[in-house]
Amino acid sequence: MSASHLSDLIAIRLNRRTLLGSAGAAAALAIAPGKSEAATGVSFTEISHGVDETHHVAPGHDVQIVLRWGDPIVPGAPAFDPLHQTAAAQAMQFGYNNDFVGYVPLGKDRALLCVNHEYSIGHLMFPGIGVNDRGETRRDLMSADQCAIEQAACGASVVEIARHAGQWHVVQDGPRNRRITTSGTVFEVSGPARGSSRLATTADPAGEQIIGTFGNCAGGITPWGSYLSGEENIDEAFIGTLPAHHREARNHKMMGVPGNQYDWGRHDPRFDIGKEPHEPNRFGWVVEVDALDPSNPPKKRTALGRFKHEGAESVISQDGRLVVYMGDDERFQHLYRFVSRDRVDLHDRKANRDLLDHGTLSVARFDQGGVTWLPLIFGHGPLTPENGFESQADVLIEARHAARLLGATPMDRPEDVQPHPKNGRVYVILTNNNKRQADQVDAANPRAANTNGHIVELVAPHGDHGADHFTWDVLVLCGPPGSGSSWNPATSENGWLSCPDNAVIDPRGRLWISSDQGSKWAASGTADGLWALGTEGPDRARGRMFFRVPIGAEMAGPCFAPDGRTFFASVQHPASDGTRDYAPFGRFSTFDDPATRWPDFHPKLPPRPSLVAITRHDGKEIGI
Ligand code: FEO
Ligand code: CA
Ligand code: CA
Repeated sequence: MSASHLSDLIAIRLNRRTLLGSAGAAAALAIAPGKSEAATGVSFTEISHGVDETHHVAPGHDVQIVLRWGDPIVPGAPAFDPLHQTAAAQAMQFGYNNDFVGYVPLGKDRALLCVNHEYSIGHLMFPGIGVNDRGETRRDLMSADQCAIEQAACGASVVEIARHAGQWHVVQDGPRNRRITTSGTVFEVSGPARGSSRLATTADPAGEQIIGTFGNCAGGITPWGSYLSGEENIDEAFIGTLPAHHREARNHKMMGVPGNQYDWGRHDPRFDIGKEPHEPNRFGWVVEVDALDPSNPPKKRTALGRFKHEGAESVISQDGRLVVYMGDDERFQHLYRFVSRDRVDLHDRKANRDLLDHGTLSVARFDQGGVTWLPLIFGHGPLTPENGFESQADVLIEARHAARLLGATPMDRPEDVQPHPKNGRVYVILTNNNKRQADQVDAANPRAANTNGHIVELVAPHGDHGADHFTWDVLVLCGPPGSGSSWNPATSENGWLSCPDNAVIDPRGRLWISSDQGSKWAASGTADGLWALGTEGPDRARGRMFFRVPIGAEMAGPCFAPDGRTFFASVQHPASDGTRDYAPFGRFSTFDDPATRWPDFHPKLPPRPSLVAITRHDGKEIGI
């Protein structure tokens, strides 16, 4: 990284710290340039709810497909050939099901995009596989080679991009370009669980090095330009049966292991818990990848706990420490926060290399109007040998169990948790929970059978993200009118959304939300998309629909370039979810018979998860 690049990053963060130091929403409003409406609201012409075979964006904007599944991203990578795909080729190409997108600037109009590849879908990736009568991949037809391709398609990509004449291009020979995969990338175990006997396997008896990452859902970019990626649905990778009375029985059950979604374990024994009972403990962490310095090995940061990590968005606290907010995305799971022991050094990025190994992981308990952060520290309260914890490593490996014992509040699937960089607020995205019973509702999860989700706004006292107690409010209860939703009355018939998932704050401090309704999209009548969501004054809780994905896709990874003139996002799993409810198609979708061939619409190409860049025709900032 050149000095000028680092200074760019530092300038951004120092600006944020200065603003934070001046504290409060009033400060945030005061710094936003332009007219008062620009500080709180947005301006664009909404698109309509609906569903069809392609994407839609607000009038006056362009959508560029920047990266598609299979695009070459390193020198020598072969062109995408879906009928002759190999694991070696896939490991040099953009992976499948892109989710989180992070932007690490390399200077003006040049950046590294850090992109998660969450999971694979055999029946949409390979010809002749198809689905069973429940629409599930015919795993019994998958070959060992195809399982290896899947593992090479998952993980992450770091890709240099540059803008010329308003268009973004991949810099295929970018020196930092790389793929990170489930099968081929070695991670150092870092933090308190390094060397735990519960991480020991045949391949790694010391419990110090782990091959691969999986379930990479959302994430975050740290102030020093590294890339955090959350390992979420790691249970899906495992098959098999634990030996009787095994110590990991409780732990694996709480994590849903084995999830039996892939048959990798038939070809690769580490994914069979009967053969490698500790392998699941090596997944479910936040991983840190030094996007700017590929010589720095990627790490599994165990101090941040093990659960089904959605994302890991961070903010610098008033005293200079890093605060990372994290959701555990499963029904009745919890909201977490990590506060580093040491301060971030904005002048020497190497000084932050081990920052995420030391600090306090806490979990949230919501009361009427207040949030208390409960620390997960071995020996404190119930986190003792009597409850099966012998060390801090045990507390971290079984963070879910520790959180339950501490009395954390079971939430309606916490997905992205987005701190505002300037005003001390934090947006907790709760996607849904159809299992919550009437006698299980509470102030922060106020609806039984919550199929539409909601967004909670935390307020750190005086902008202090390291404080033990916050206040909170519901920003909006999502879903259509009449479903118990709480939209601003100014919200149009297209402005409401269901099942919020990811969030991003744009450079002007405004909140944008993406949705993931899964196979239940028909209940809302619209495909997933991106909405601007007001948070201030008369605009609060008013949604506006900006972008819509094609049939079967989910919207993920919303990310702004720092100048606000490009809005990146992931269109994940096109042609996948709920295609039987799409009347023009009306059946399960496969590689050979897909519901859409977005984005190429070429008869010989399958649908391809892709990363899009949205810009304005006039090149100005989005949403002003
Ligand atoms: Fe991978 Fe919780 O979404
Ligand atoms: Ca998600
Ligand atoms: Ca986010």
